[in-house]
Amino acid sequence: MPDYTAPVPVPGANMGRADPRIEANDKVTGRTLYAADNVLRNPTHAYFVTSAIARGRIRGFDLAEAEVMPGVVAIFTHRNFPSPGDYRPPTPAAAGSNPPDPTPMRSAEIAHEGQIIAVVVAETYEAARAAANRVRVDYEERRPATTIESRGTEIRDLEDVEAAWRDPSVGDFSRAYAGAAVKLDGQYSTPAQHHNAIELFTTLAEWSGEDVLIYEASQGVHTLRTQVAAQLGIDPVRVTISNPFVGGSFGGKNGTPRTGLIAAVAKAVRRPVKLVVPRDQGFTANTYRAETRHRVQLAADRTGKLVAYNHEGTELTSRIKDYRTAGTRLTTEIYGVPNIASRVRIARADRNTPGFMRSPPEVPYMFALECAIDELAERCGLDPVAFRRLNDTQSSPISGRPYTSRHLNECFAAAAEQFGWARRDPRPRSMRSGDWLVGYGCATSARPAQSGASNARVRLTADGRAVVQIGAHDVGTGATTIMGQVAAGILKVPLDRISVQMGDTRLPRATGAGGSRTTAGGGSAVKAACDRIVARFDGRIPQGAALRSAMGGLGLGSIEEYAEWSPPGEGAAGGQAAAEAPLACAFGAQFVEVRIHSRTREIRVPRITGAYAAGRVMNPRTARSQLMGAMIWGIGSAIHEFTELDERRARYVNNSIAEYLVPVNADIGTVEVIMIPEVDELIPLGAKGMGELGNVGTAAAISNAVYHATGRRIRDLPITIDKLIDDRPRPGAA
Ligand code: MOS
Repeated sequence: MPDYTAPVPVPGANMGRADPRIEANDKVTGRTLYAADNVLRNPTHAYFVTSAIARGRIRGFDLAEAEVMPGVVAIFTHRNFPSPGDYRPPTPAAAGSNPPDPTPMRSAEIAHEGQIIAVVVAETYEAARAAANRVRVDYEERRPATTIESRGTEIRDLEDVEAAWRDPSVGDFSRAYAGAAVKLDGQYSTPAQHHNAIELFTTLAEWSGEDVLIYEASQGVHTLRTQVAAQLGIDPVRVTISNPFVGGSFGGKNGTPRTGLIAAVAKAVRRPVKLVVPRDQGFTANTYRAETRHRVQLAADRTGKLVAYNHEGTELTSRIKDYRTAGTRLTTEIYGVPNIASRVRIARADRNTPGFMRSPPEVPYMFALECAIDELAERCGLDPVAFRRLNDTQSSPISGRPYTSRHLNECFAAAAEQFGWARRDPRPRSMRSGDWLVGYGCATSARPAQSGASNARVRLTADGRAVVQIGAHDVGTGATTIMGQVAAGILKVPLDRISVQMGDTRLPRATGAGGSRTTAGGGSAVKAACDRIVARFDGRIPQGAALRSAMGGLGLGSIEEYAEWSPPGEGAAGGQAAAEAPLACAFGAQFVEVRIHSRTREIRVPRITGAYAAGRVMNPRTARSQLMGAMIWGIGSAIHEFTELDERRARYVNNSIAEYLVPVNADIGTVEVIMIPEVDELIPLGAKGMGELGNVGTAAAISNAVYHATGRRIRDLPITIDKLIDDRPRPGAA
């Protein structure tokens, strides 16, 4: 048996080298500069004043006390906000898939608690914070609607608010469900979760004449530049955004209205401005994963073949913007079900606008589906792995399109073997270790394979070195190393002689670090540029002295090539109808063991095993780290992590890293990652992307294991001790 927990994974078929990260030494020795580490000339410091109410309007400000505080440079509110030009939402093509809210401080209206209502600028961070705490605000307060079930929340069908959206369906669900032999009708819920990366949300802005340089913790500088230029009403060439390193983003460092706001403030005070949003304000000055509710109806015939599936999801959004994740697009294509219905609704409440968080649609929707699958398998008297195998499909039941590659069964087989699934006694509450109830559970992971148009520039010098330039991001994933590896493999240059530059608008425009697109999209552009260099040498790059003399013969000290790359079928018009796009998806299978103390109900996850197939694995070491980190987050999302809402005030209660729980070392036991060799030819690079694959399904595997240990189905996340101690029937526990 291979040791999957070995420090350096051994590459399998169709896998690259397990090179260590090229920036690792700089990171662990503190040499890496993150956005807030940049030094500005004669800087000022900004601190936000945020709304203490969730709904209403501002009657007025009393700034008298704040203005005379030592070190205060300026205080801006909607009354005197430096006009950055009227905010014009960027065109959809320029804005990215989730454009930010309009710039705050444009009126007296309050749409959510924590809304930015004033910016205090001072000589030091401490002075700005002290003055912000002395800004008095007179509000006209109205009763807010807090969450999906609250009075005053407006629930709308996604089909009615988004012209292009159609709820996936096929066959005749109602009829098939009514006549089915075995069925289930369950309610599931997932909580709000907030971004708490180590690196805080940051914006630094410095003007030189008409040009502004911005340092910001961002996962998409090129899109951010377009948005900021639109906010400021200036040409995008006037805006430079630099952010080579990111201390965790996970969807939280996409476009934000804060950037243009701080740039406008810097222009008004005629000095550079530094903003580091404190942890608590980060809960409302930024996006988050919103809570969702699900109804899943699932039915099978007597042999265990699925015959009907209906998935109704309701997602919270703000009053400002109709953000949605609509995870039914994925869940309706996972199993071979002939009759499918689905419906997505959004719930507008008095909350800040949600946004992306690692696998935004898949995490909540696959939780519901994969719990339901486990429940129905049990009702059919089938092992949940066998049940999934029986209902596997190699094509979409909605469109009939085949998957470019799909090895879900192979993932289940490998992970089950490694985990020891065969030792499971299927009866609930049948396994025990001393005072601990032991449960085994499993679930499917799935995540669409995306890429994204990218450009790259590569330079090969006569001394056998190379420079790779691409305005994509390494958000901590190892992307820098992978870009270098792509060039090293094609140019035959050792990785330690390659310099990789990323995360800056002065570099070629490339895909943002969202949707697990960087390796496939950015890597394909780097490959294209390298291929062009190879073509200059008639397909064979000379090595060593031969390279030097070959370049000398051409009269060159270096060769530089620029390449544009677009995903297959994606024309200049930008994108194609989803119905015509190839069906490409990465898959995985996760198995967990949970232990629940028979008296205290303390819950532990001593081990987890995941097997994944995601096309070519560019670097098994960075890939394993990605998947391992994702599974750990998956454990956190199942039993630790959630944002507490104050129903009366539409406020977040645990807005600190002390009270917002994430797993720590002592919470995590054995994490095993298996990478299944897979060849996928959707794109020449062969990679599908896996950053968001590993935390999909984890929470369902844990919920299923909790049921196996205790006989209790916990259908609302997180699974906390109180839910296991309370033996009364819970809503949704049909
Ligand atoms: Mo990531 S949640 O796709 O930005």
